[in-house]
Amino acid sequence: MTTTTIESNLQEQRLFKPSTKFSQASYIKSRSEYNKLCDRAQENPERFWAELADSELQWFKTWDTVLDWQPPHAKWFVGGKLNITHNCLDRHLTASSKNMPALVWQGEPGDARTYSYFELHQEVCQMANVLKQLGVTKGDRVGIYLPMIPEAAIAMLACARIGAVHSVIFAGFSAEAIKGRLLDAEAKVVITADGGWRKNKVVPLKTQVDKALASGEVPSVESVIVVIRTGQRIHMQPDRDYWWQDLQNGTSCDCPAEPMDSEDPLFILYTSGTTGKPKGVVHTVGGYSLYTHLTTKWAFDLKDTDVFWCTADVGWITGHSYTVYGPLSNGATTVMYEGAPHAGNPGCLWDVVEKYGVTVFYTAPTAIRLLMTFGEELPQSRNLSSIRLLGTVGEPINPTVWMWYHRVIGAGRCPIVDTWWQTETGGVMLTPLPGAIPTKPGSATLPFPGIVADVVDLSGNPVPVNEGGYLVIKQPWPGMIRTVYNNPDRYLSTYWTKIAPKDGQYFYFTGDGARQDEDGYFWIVGRVDDVINIAGHRLGTMEVESALVSHSAVAEAAVVGRASEIKGEELVAFITLKPEYVATEELTQTLKQHVVHEIGAIARPAEIQFAKALPKTRSGKIMRRFLRAIASGEEVTGDVSTLEDRTALDKLRS
Ligand code: PRX
Repeated sequence: MTTTTIESNLQEQRLFKPSTKFSQASYIKSRSEYNKLCDRAQENPERFWAELADSELQWFKTWDTVLDWQPPHAKWFVGGKLNITHNCLDRHLTASSKNMPALVWQGEPGDARTYSYFELHQEVCQMANVLKQLGVTKGDRVGIYLPMIPEAAIAMLACARIGAVHSVIFAGFSAEAIKGRLLDAEAKVVITADGGWRKNKVVPLKTQVDKALASGEVPSVESVIVVIRTGQRIHMQPDRDYWWQDLQNGTSCDCPAEPMDSEDPLFILYTSGTTGKPKGVVHTVGGYSLYTHLTTKWAFDLKDTDVFWCTADVGWITGHSYTVYGPLSNGATTVMYEGAPHAGNPGCLWDVVEKYGVTVFYTAPTAIRLLMTFGEELPQSRNLSSIRLLGTVGEPINPTVWMWYHRVIGAGRCPIVDTWWQTETGGVMLTPLPGAIPTKPGSATLPFPGIVADVVDLSGNPVPVNEGGYLVIKQPWPGMIRTVYNNPDRYLSTYWTKIAPKDGQYFYFTGDGARQDEDGYFWIVGRVDDVINIAGHRLGTMEVESALVSHSAVAEAAVVGRASEIKGEELVAFITLKPEYVATEELTQTLKQHVVHEIGAIARPAEIQFAKALPKTRSGKIMRRFLRAIASGEEVTGDVSTLEDRTALDKLRS
C-alpha cells in the first residue's frame, strides 16, 4: 500500500439539488428520509435488513437467522430458501406485467430483439432444461464467454434457475485468461458464441475457447454450447460442442426454479488483485438478491415503468448487478447493446437512447470522456428527453466531465448518481439517493442506507475531516463477497487484515483511498494498492508483470500506471532483457502482443521502456514510486537513500 496517492486535489464546492418534482416522485424524497433510514439501520441492522428482505423479495421459505457474523465470515438469511430467477422473472408474470418488455437488445450491425417478461421466462426455463440434459446439476460451475447478446443474460439466469454457479468471462479476455478461470472454477460446461460484433469486425470467440481447451487442458469441461451470432465458420468438436439453437429445439419451457439456500453460491466472478492471479469473488443467492434489488430501486430510483440502460458488459460486476439482476428484479426494462460506444457511428449510444426511450442511463467516466471528444452537437441532435436520471461508475469522475454529463446529456435537469462500489461489494455502496441527496461534482456522496463506511488510518482510527485515508466498511452487508473461490486465505489477507483496529474488530478493506469533507461526503481518490483502473476496468500490475516475464526475452518487469486523458490510466512497463536479447521496436511490439495473448487487449501496455536495471531497495523490492514518476515525466523526488544502486535510477531518468 502506498500513501502517496491518497491526497485529494479536488476542491469542488458546487452543490446540485434534485428538483422538487424529481424528489416528490422518488422513493426516498429528502435528506431527512435518508437519515431516518440510516438511523433505523444503525439502531438494529438485522431488523433493518430483515424487514427489507421480507418486503422486497419473495422467499420459498423464510430464514431462521438474519445474520450469522463470525468475522470475517458472514452468512445472511440463514435457512431461507429462494431463487433469484423467481424474483427476476416469475413474480412479474402477472396479467398486467408479463407482456411488458423485460429486455431490449440492440445488435451492433443494426439487428434488434425485445423479450417480454413472459418470453424471457420461457427462454430461461428452456435453457435451464438444456443445461440439465447436459448433466449440469446444482453447484456445478458453468463458464460463460459471450458477447453482449440476450443469450448472455439468458445463460446466467438459466444457471441460476437450476442452482448452477455461473462464471462469466469478459469476451475481451484471451484464451490464456479463459483457461486460467475455467481451471480455477473447474467448469463443467462453457457457453460461447461463434463470434461477436465489435467495431464492425467479428471477434472470434469460439476459437479462443478452442485454444483454451486445447489438448484437454481443462479436463473438467465436458460440453461447449455455441450460440450462432456471426455465422462465421468455426470448428465444432464432436461429442463436446453443440449449437445453442439445436439444443433448444424441442426442449421444454417448463422448469420450476430450484429452491436455493440463501447462502448457496450464485456466481463466481474473477477480478484482479495485487497478486499475479485474478481471484474468484463468490456471491451467494440471498444476500446478493436483496442487495442488487434494493440498490437498483433506491440508487437509481427505478420503477417498473423505467427503461434502464447500464452500458457495462455482463463480463463485469456492473453488468451482472445492473444490466441483468437488479433491473429485472424490479420489473423494469433493461437495455443491452452489443457494440462499442463509437462503432462506426459516434452517435450510436444516443441513437439507442432515442430509439428505446431510455429513462435511466448508467455508464463509466471513461465513456463520457470519449463521447465528449465527439462534441456536443451529436447528443444535441438526438432526442434525449426521455432520460430522467444519470449514473456513473468505475473510476473517479472529474468535475469537468461531471458538468458536461449534467449539462449536455442531462440538459441540466437530471440528477447524477456517482456510485462507488466493487466486484466484491455486489452492489452500490456510496451513492447519492437521487431524490434525497444534493450532489457535488466528483463526489460519490454518502453511504447507501445500512452501509457503515469510514476513512481510517492503518490502525482503523478515523482520520480528520478532509484528510486522506483508507476507505473501509465497518459492518457486514448482504451483498458482500463471501470468499475467494478455492482460496479462503486470500479472502482473509486481501480484505480483512490490512487495517488492524486495536480492539480486534474486522473492517473490510476496499483498496481505495478517500477523504470525507465537512458535510461527510466521500471523495474517492483511487486505489492505494497495485491495482490500476484502465477505462474503468481493474487490472493488477502483477498480473501484467507475470504475463511479461513469461516471455523468453524478459528477465524482469515492473508495470505502473500513468494518467491518460480518455482511459483514466494506462500501463507503462519497465523491462530488463535477458543478456542474449536486444531492445528493438520489433521486440516492443512483440511484447505488447504477448500481453494481449496472455490476458487480453485491455492489458496492452501503452509504452514499454527497456532498462539495464530496475531501481530496487537493498532488500530487492522494486521502487515503483520512482517508476511512476518517470513514466509520467515527473521529477523523481523523495528519499533515494534506500536504493541499492542509484545509477539504475539515473540511467532510467536519462
Ligand atoms: O477503485 C474503485 C473504482 O473501481 C474499483 C472497483 O473495480 P471493480 O471491482 O472492477 O468494479 C467496478 C464497478 C463497480 C474500486 O475499488 N471505482 C468504482 N466506482 C468508483 C470508483 N472510483 C471512484 N468513483 C467511483 N464511483
